[in-house]
Amino acid sequence: MREYNTLDDFNFENKTVLLRVDFNMPLDKKTLEILDTTRIKRVLPTIKELMNNNAKTVIIAHQGRQGSWDFISMEKHAKALQDLIGKKVTFIDDLYLDKAQNAIKNMEPGDIIMLDNVRKFEGETEKKTAEEHSKSELVQNLYPLVDIYVNDAFAAAHRKQCSLIGFTAVLPSCAGRLMEKELTTLGDIISNPEKPSVFLFGGAKFSDVIVTIDRLLENKTADKIILTGLPANAFLKAEGINLGDKNEEMLSREGSPENYDDIKRLMDKYKDNIFLPTDFAQQANMDRAEIAVSDLPTNYNLYDIGERTIEKFKSILSNAKTVFLSGPCGVFENPIFMKGTKEIFTYVANADVFSIVGGGHTVAAVEQLGLDSKISHISTGGGSLEKFMMGEKLPVVEALIAAKNKR
Ligand code: 3PG
Repeated sequence: MREYNTLDDFNFENKTVLLRVDFNMPLDKKTLEILDTTRIKRVLPTIKELMNNNAKTVIIAHQGRQGSWDFISMEKHAKALQDLIGKKVTFIDDLYLDKAQNAIKNMEPGDIIMLDNVRKFEGETEKKTAEEHSKSELVQNLYPLVDIYVNDAFAAAHRKQCSLIGFTAVLPSCAGRLMEKELTTLGDIISNPEKPSVFLFGGAKFSDVIVTIDRLLENKTADKIILTGLPANAFLKAEGINLGDKNEEMLSREGSPENYDDIKRLMDKYKDNIFLPTDFAQQANMDRAEIAVSDLPTNYNLYDIGERTIEKFKSILSNAKTVFLSGPCGVFENPIFMKGTKEIFTYVANADVFSIVGGGHTVAAVEQLGLDSKISHISTGGGSLEKFMMGEKLPVVEALIAAKNKR
């Protein structure tokens, strides 16, 4: 018996369902086209099941964050879903006002609509309880039109955001098929991990990673941590390395000064368990050029780990039994800077380890490299997966459990 409801617990015939998914996708920076549709594909079982049971499915999701370059409407996502599911998906250029409400009221059984980017609603990202969020304009305007709330956004399950937990306080609620699968598979891995375990963090976010690393090392889920991408830059900066103006500016857009004090404390505590790059590849005159950490600062952007670092990290990975990959090692979308990600990920995929991959960009990299069939578990989660792996309770799961207990 699960602690939360699943699709098995409801009859969806002719019911209006609000389905919260995570369609936060890697986009092409120039064209803003979706680069990888894995997260949509993974939610298809839930959407198909609702459609085949004659539900009226109203999808709600986010892309990017307010102020970020990838903060766009969900129109392209609706189109991508329509192409994948082979059934009309109507994009509504509204979230909860008249246009959205009328569209929901006019739905027929089996219809699918997709509302606009939920982060256009100012209150979405406020950290509140489910009850507090349920008083918001978003929930108050939508919930009277809905019969059942389904959450299939495992990748955002670590966020206490309005559309992720607010509806569970006022509607019968359950987990979708993807959420159910992720929680079951990962739960089994956590309860019986093979050691030693090495966790690699890369990508373009680092503030969340600091606490994650601390917890993973403290509760011994991770034996070693390898850092690449922006997290590596942040840790080197905290160690007093001047990375050069361009790289420092990228860091300042993501983190705050307090982050560096936290990193310093972490490095003092675990300096033998955390491994940083010793060289990088930078973009100089449109070409890849290696630079040692000892030769920094540089006037160029650091876009990948360097060749000596690749070899060093492979040797750390060589005796691992469980490997967790979260975030590419560099700007893998650019062929010149794909090398670090390609070599490290291929090494892990071919090794005799239990490999877990998470995060939109990481999964995209694995697929692009054709390694997906060689990875033991591909999760749609990035931050949520990390939190789950370090034994933290996920607010979305807690909200679904509370909703089940209430009714
Ligand atoms: C993700 O892609 O990790 C989730 O969609 C959450 O996104 P966020 O870090 O912007 O909250």
